[in-house]
Amino acid sequence: MKRRHFLMNFTAAVGGLVATKAIAKMEHTKMTGMTCELNSDDCNKGDNMHEHMNMNMNMNHDQKPQKLLPTSSLKQNQNLPSLINLKNESNQPGVFEATLHLKPVKIALTPEITTEFWAYNGMIPGPKIEVNEGDHVKITVKNDLPQSTTVHWHGLLIPSNQDGNPQDAIPAGKSRVYEFDVPKGNAGTFWYHPHGHETVAEQVYRGLAGTFIVRSKDDPLNSLPEQHWFFSDLKLTDKGEIADNTMVDWMNGREGQFVLINGSYRPKIKVDSATRVRIWNACSGRYLNLSIPDCDVFLVGTDGGLLSEPVSLNKPLLLSPAERAEIVILPKKTGTVYLQSIGYDRGKMGNVPPEQDMLLAELDLTQSNSITLPSTLRTLPKLGQATAHKKLEYTEVMDMKEPRGGMLFLINGKRHDMNRIDLESKIHEVEEWTIHNNSHMDHNFHIHGAQFMVVSHEFNGTKTLPQYMALKDTVNLRPHETITIKIQQNMPGLRMYHCHIIEHETLGMMGQLMVK
Ligand code: C2O
Ligand code: CU
Ligand code: CU
Repeated sequence: MKRRHFLMNFTAAVGGLVATKAIAKMEHTKMTGMTCELNSDDCNKGDNMHEHMNMNMNMNHDQKPQKLLPTSSLKQNQNLPSLINLKNESNQPGVFEATLHLKPVKIALTPEITTEFWAYNGMIPGPKIEVNEGDHVKITVKNDLPQSTTVHWHGLLIPSNQDGNPQDAIPAGKSRVYEFDVPKGNAGTFWYHPHGHETVAEQVYRGLAGTFIVRSKDDPLNSLPEQHWFFSDLKLTDKGEIADNTMVDWMNGREGQFVLINGSYRPKIKVDSATRVRIWNACSGRYLNLSIPDCDVFLVGTDGGLLSEPVSLNKPLLLSPAERAEIVILPKKTGTVYLQSIGYDRGKMGNVPPEQDMLLAELDLTQSNSITLPSTLRTLPKLGQATAHKKLEYTEVMDMKEPRGGMLFLINGKRHDMNRIDLESKIHEVEEWTIHNNSHMDHNFHIHGAQFMVVSHEFNGTKTLPQYMALKDTVNLRPHETITIKIQQNMPGLRMYHCHIIEHETLGMMGQLMVK
């Protein structure tokens, strides 16, 4: 009852914000030649940016609106498919050996609609890799795409030369072997996706992404039944082809008309007992703000595995692109309810409709006996006092010469350059990073090679501590928010950090850290 009340209020508040924006007027524009700098102090008011974008779109880019497939064309309400495991070809204990084959595949979504995807082993999403902490992993990747790629093992603590950096491309038609040990303490919910130079957006929206679960023998929730909800985004033209990115997609991060769970559109999900659910937001640009009605919901894990103790959730679970969560849900009634993403205003640019609640799945609940979750899930590693400090600033700049949206997305004023080292860290040194989102739009921060802890948020002039301690590799920043994280890199080599709105990353909102 209470919960429902909260959701209603929340939606009303979001609606209010959108209305305020719509009536805001353009007060100020500043054009310098072909480029308009919007990161100077008097020019970074969000609403001005919106006007700039409308102007830019009218002046420079005459894009016809895309004709999209009506959402009624895809079948709904099919039982949630299970993720298909990648077969371990090794029979040695502690060794996982397999092959991922990337190639274009035609998939019949309906009897009338056949779509060409780019897929790992012909599946959308790619096969689920499941290993144990401490396992040795050896995966042969065969690239039969028309372009080069890499495979990045998002969230895993593995050597940088095995982590799919853009510098280590696998050319079209070639193969390579990725080989690494998954360290102890690295149990959790991860995923893999391409990380080539400027090709990530297209490769992901054509279908390349898969799940990677690392299990631990001492997981105190091992006895619970488990479900996997892998959210991905799909945009199809009226002919059923994968749509190209529009300017708006490049600016805001792509959002399609379909959100899939385990590759299925608006599936039916049965929950008939207390269940652990691993959730991935593998959408390119879409924020998920998940509301699960008529259930008790406990957050038990984040990007980097279990929390120290369960946290009862009394509001929607917000996951920005690439974030994961583990929750335990307990149905409190028997019946059909709807899993929704509650509209979340992330400050998108241009003429975009206000955010609305989105139906994601039907939940068939069976009222279940309550269970007692362990009060302690694990002891999180303690990072000592930070002895080094780093500062990052996110900005957005108009650039009419940039054909993909007319915007540059920058970190510390720079666009990603594969041949530039932006920052250096000493191996094992505990560092504090302060990341400031000096823009009017949400961006998130992701870094390779480490799981960090958020120390504080500073938003609207107030500094707050995180609600719970957690290991994260991706964290959201609201407009003008500053966050401080504590981080330690424990392996040498080159690591990427970037916004995980994949279009922003592809357009250059990425930097390079050398760990020595
Ligand atoms: Cu999920 Cu650098 O990426
Ligand atoms: Cu990553
Ligand atoms: Cu971004």
